[in-house]
Amino acid sequence: MALLNILHYPDERLHTVATPVQTFDDALRIQIDNMFETMYDAKGIGLAATQVDFHKRLVVMDISEDHNEPRVFVNPVIVEKEGETVYEEGCLSVPGIYDKVTRAEKVKVRALDRDGKEFELEADGLLAICIQHEIDHLDGKVFVEYLSEMKQGRIRTKLKKRERQNM
Ligand code: NI
Repeated sequence: MALLNILHYPDERLHTVATPVQTFDDALRIQIDNMFETMYDAKGIGLAATQVDFHKRLVVMDISEDHNEPRVFVNPVIVEKEGETVYEEGCLSVPGIYDKVTRAEKVKVRALDRDGKEFELEADGLLAICIQHEIDHLDGKVFVEYLSEMKQGRIRTKLKKRERQNM
């Protein structure tokens, strides 16, 4: 397995719209395993392929404390939404930034697993928020885009400055 490089906002590549996965082969399963390793290493609870510069509709997630509930969503689609909830979100592509985002409280998602088998999942709480956040990534959207222009500007300046300091 290998650790993948996570793109950081405002990298333009984060705005790429991912295309559907069509082939379920070893290459895909290796990509999934590498994404899990990268996510766990970075102490994240979700990672979309877009964030590691792989522009296919693929998400890995594990919201459990003990890292024992790995979930894979290939070509995920939200088929039902209900209610509204506000949660302070963060993102591995926007390190150190947390802010409130309003999303649906409950979702029903339809997706394929790592072998291409279809499943449906009804989610609420953190899992529902995470699913919506990660599917946004596949559509080229980062959570800070829900914030005001002024906040987005401040975040861009902050992250660019930090990137320069890390060079
Ligand atoms: Ni994210």
